[in-house]
Amino acid sequence: MSMLVINGGRALAGTVAVSGAKNSVLPILAATVVNAGRNVLHNCPDLRDVQSAIKILRHLGCKVTREGQTVTVDSSVIERWDVPDDLMREMRSSVIFLGPIIARCGRARLTTPGGCELGPRPIDLHLDALRRLGVHIEERGGEILCEAGKMEGRDIILSFPSVGATENTMLAATACAGVTRIINAAREPEIADLQEFLQKTGANITGAGGSEISIVGGNTRRDTEHRIMPDRIEAATYLCAAAACGGDVTLRECEPEHVGTITSALSEGGCEISVAGRSIRLRAERPLRAMPPVRTMPYPGFPTDAQAQMMAVACTARGTTIFLENIFENRYRHVGELMRMGAHIKVSGRVAVVDGGAPLHGAMVQATDLRGGAALVIAALAAHGESRVGEIHHIDRGYEHIETVLSALGADIRRE
Ligand code: UD1
Repeated sequence: MSMLVINGGRALAGTVAVSGAKNSVLPILAATVVNAGRNVLHNCPDLRDVQSAIKILRHLGCKVTREGQTVTVDSSVIERWDVPDDLMREMRSSVIFLGPIIARCGRARLTTPGGCELGPRPIDLHLDALRRLGVHIEERGGEILCEAGKMEGRDIILSFPSVGATENTMLAATACAGVTRIINAAREPEIADLQEFLQKTGANITGAGGSEISIVGGNTRRDTEHRIMPDRIEAATYLCAAAACGGDVTLRECEPEHVGTITSALSEGGCEISVAGRSIRLRAERPLRAMPPVRTMPYPGFPTDAQAQMMAVACTARGTTIFLENIFENRYRHVGELMRMGAHIKVSGRVAVVDGGAPLHGAMVQATDLRGGAALVIAALAAHGESRVGEIHHIDRGYEHIETVLSALGADIRRE
């Protein structure tokens, strides 16, 4: 079992180039299924979840190659419409293949994603939307069996702006006759990136980034080239690391507007932040001061995917910072591990109160989930002494060579 061994207490300095976004590349890989052509995707991070998505594409009959950060998916021929249970289990978000397979094949067979580290991961909103578009769905013994009747565009009103449900509906709607409108759609930038890819394939789709998306159905088969947007959560993670450790770090190839809630919280904590084009420079002197309450919300609110990393920063900042997790039920599993390092945190339901400023010390800790794991790395970088972070397969799901990036910034971190 590999682990990260970190000797904390060093300031970070230098430049990091942000990778392509995990939460954008996965739905876009799934979307290649609806475009019966050659899809060339640049800036694809080499993450485990991306490898899992590629396995699913190959299972369906697509020809997939990777050269550096470029993945080419030839989906001219699709031979299957199922995703086997082992592949579904490898990656929770594989449910994003449901809409595209139905759109392309008129039927689909998947297994339910079940729960995950963040609590139950329901897909009722995905299935309700597909049913309204004319898909007959049977859920039997953990299987989801879908048969498309005559698919017709309708108004789909989401009761919550779910990212996954919005993406699945957009993709299924490409096969519907007429116009589908998604109302109360998720507004995350990754959805706008998916729309941009689909537009390049010739799909008639508008509105992504706002809360109403319109899709005029129609098949596409056009060779397409697209560059995946920068990963705003990776950017947030390295900004938090620099804030917690102190130092002077510049992110390149990022989209500053996408991390506005992160940079504004960090500047309230005393970090000096400057933006120039597609780069962000953060300078911090320790200790920071406590930040205003952090409430996770759908975009453009504070991202749930950066809550844990910001909590690690709050542990190093003098004073009390309050967190309110509104998106996922079970997203404080990193708290117990942070407390092993000397953090003072009290959790009650969706609220966590961090009394920051007491020095953190090195400890043996375990990543409980992807972003919680990133928070432990940040805390360990800021702590005195040696930490060992285990269960790092969680971290590898979302960060390509995290130790190489952080070492280049001057951190003492190695994989053992
Ligand atoms: C996506 C991201 C994930 C991120 C999350 C929030 C991908 C692959 N995953 O997940 O990394 O943490 O957005 O930004 O992009 N819900 C329902 N019923 C549904 C669907 C969702 O009740 O059918 C609830 C969920 O339980 C959760 C909330 O809605 O409480 C948000 O979920 P959603 O926006 O769908 O997140 P994901 O698409 O799963």
